[in-house]
Amino acid sequence: MLKGKRVVLGVCGGIAAYKTPHLVRLLKKAEAEVRVALTEAGGRFVSELSLATVSGEPVLRSMFPATNTPGVDFTGHISLGEWADALVVAPATANTMAKLAAGLCDDMLTACFITLRPNRPVLIFPAMDGQMFLSASVQRNVATLAAHGCHVFTPESGELASGLCGLGRMAEPEEIATELERTLDSISNDSPLSGLRIVVTAGPTRERIDGVRFISNYSSGKMGFAIARAAAERGATVTLISGPVHLGTPPGVERIDVESASEMNETAERVFSETNIFIGAAAVADYRPAEPVDGKVKKGASQMEIRLVQNPDILGGFGAQKSPGQLAIGFALEEADGIEHAHAKLEAKNLDLIAFNTFNGTDSGFEVDTNILTLIIRGGETVTLTKLTKEKAAGELLNAVERLVVAKEMQP
Ligand code: C5P
Repeated sequence: MLKGKRVVLGVCGGIAAYKTPHLVRLLKKAEAEVRVALTEAGGRFVSELSLATVSGEPVLRSMFPATNTPGVDFTGHISLGEWADALVVAPATANTMAKLAAGLCDDMLTACFITLRPNRPVLIFPAMDGQMFLSASVQRNVATLAAHGCHVFTPESGELASGLCGLGRMAEPEEIATELERTLDSISNDSPLSGLRIVVTAGPTRERIDGVRFISNYSSGKMGFAIARAAAERGATVTLISGPVHLGTPPGVERIDVESASEMNETAERVFSETNIFIGAAAVADYRPAEPVDGKVKKGASQMEIRLVQNPDILGGFGAQKSPGQLAIGFALEEADGIEHAHAKLEAKNLDLIAFNTFNGTDSGFEVDTNILTLIIRGGETVTLTKLTKEKAAGELLNAVERLVVAKEMQP
């Protein structure tokens, strides 16, 4: 997949920069053409000579050409972005991410980012101290870059240069090369989902009893996050509305965190009209306490009652108002013999497809990494899938959605 691809590798000033000559070698071995854009700080951690030698190309640094060199390219700062099929920034520092998010442009790396042609992927691999990465300003820049379609990868956990152990390590060169290959591969597949706006709900919701307690469920969000990731990889513009989960945001996905079903509903309703495909993978609590209490309910009586009221049906709401050009996709988590309930929900919520699954706690349903789905498609086939990882199951679900998109001749 990397053969003949033109890759710009942006190297910033972090200790992980010492691994980048190896990354260049891996990309070259896969027959990619590689040019390195090295920031001023990056040059303090890895030598220009090493990167030039392994890439076989001059390393690009300043935007200002040496005017006295014969044959110099005076417009190199714009032609690099035109040349590249992909930009990989590894390691990406807080400083360079801030520049990219703000649109600042003062070296060849930032110039390449700004002049990159549309639909050319940008993969950003941050590496820094964990607290730095989690700081409000870095997180804001990560969110901005993700909203602009960059694939921003959460750093890995492990030993850090500071001697501490924790979040902050750059992904290994092998993994970076694999992610690049995967991204370029998904783009070249020309998915019918490319350019469509997809909203995915994921995770549980929390329904407040009082200031310190809530009603919730065991949903981990893994299925919804896998769908969001796969949809973004197929070129869709994805908004992920997530309840409280412990998962990193998939690259290229805009994520909105919510807590309760009502909040999830309000957030979803705001984007209903501009959504092509709505995928309800969240385990939305059906009921919430009618009168949540401020502060903390005191222990007293040996029994207590909490009156519950029904939550809005978010997916049902989308299904009820959808136009013929929109698709509504849902999940039905049922007892093993509950496929009839799934059929009933397909009708009741006016869905185009429902994924029936069960919860046995070992290989399907909540929390686990695998799922066994039966895809019931309105007016058509039923696809029974075997036990798959949630990533693979997400891929199969999207294959079925692609067939619906093609049948409906949906366009971005
Ligand atoms: O009715 P039930 O909860 O079984 O329906 C499951 C499907 O409906 C899932 O796709 C879920 O995300 C969605 N749902 C919703 N809002 C609710 C309840 C369920 O969007 N209040």
